[in-house]
Amino acid sequence: MKKIALLIFATVLGSILLIVSVHSQEDMVVINDDVFDSPQRPPAVFKHDEHNETAGIEECNQCHHLYEDGELVEDESSEDQSCSDCHAENDSGEAPGLTKAFHRNCKGCHLENKKGPIMCGQCHVR
Ligand code: HEC
Ligand code: HEC
Ligand code: HEC
Ligand code: HEC
Repeated sequence: MKKIALLIFATVLGSILLIVSVHSQEDMVVINDDVFDSPQRPPAVFKHDEHNETAGIEECNQCHHLYEDGELVEDESSEDQSCSDCHAENDSGEAPGLTKAFHRNCKGCHLENKKGPIMCGQCHVR
């Protein structure tokens, strides 16, 4: 009997752990760099929700912005799109190329706030 109880316990525990680990894989921990042909650096660390909570960022469009005819649309956001949907590899018109867009967005705010990483290896962690 004891053996069966132990077996059931182990099975239940095992499936809980599996659910937890599968779930946490869905939370973003790094920026997906699939759009870059041959990335030179490891993908940048970015725990999306945790980052934004710690940094106290309320507006999604601080990053997921939307422009119309070159004008920022104040109350709308574009989180249903990837940055790469609008930012091509190279600069096009007013829109900076993708790497520049990420760097300006991330580092720009860190510099402005004198908080958050600005050195290569702090974001592109090996
Ligand atoms: C604040 C965080 C941050 C810092 C600091 C930073 N990067 Fe990035 N970088 C990113 C993000 C986000 C991307 C988008 C793709 C990714 O995660 O690799 C990126 C993309 C890149 C890319 C294009 C993708 C690739 O891997 O080839 C290169 C090259 C790059 N960074 C080099 C650098 C270098 C060199 C430095 C230091 C001078 C640096 N980065 C500093 C966040 C950062
Ligand atoms: C500090 C910048 C920043 C803020 C603020 C931010 N995001 Fe994001 N978010 C990102 C980046 C960067 C990505 C990755 C985009 C890419 O790979 O093209 C992303 C991706 C996403 C994705 C799709 C990918 C996924 O796996 O989750 C959703 C959905 C999303 N964000 C929703 C939101 C919402 C909702 C808010 C506001 C509550 C928000 N974001 C605020 C930077 C931010
Ligand atoms: C719906 C299209 C679209 C999406 C999605 C988008 N951008 Fe942009 N972005 C633009 C356009 C257009 C401009 C040029 C604006 C102008 O006319 O100055 C721009 C400008 C920028 C700039 C320079 C001006 C500024 O605001 O500092 C940065 C940095 C930037 N984008 C980063 C990002 C990042 C990071 C993401 C993903 C989280 C992203 N963008 C998603 C369209 C987009
Ligand atoms: C609008 C401002 C803003 C933007 C945009 C922003 N950050 Fe930050 N970030 C912060 C602040 C503020 C902190 C410091 C939070 C603290 O510890 O108080 C921070 C901290 C971090 C840290 C340290 C660990 C953590 O999660 O707190 C990492 C890594 C980081 N940012 C990566 C990024 C990357 C990558 C991007 C671009 C995709 C980005 N950040 C865009 C404001 C920003």
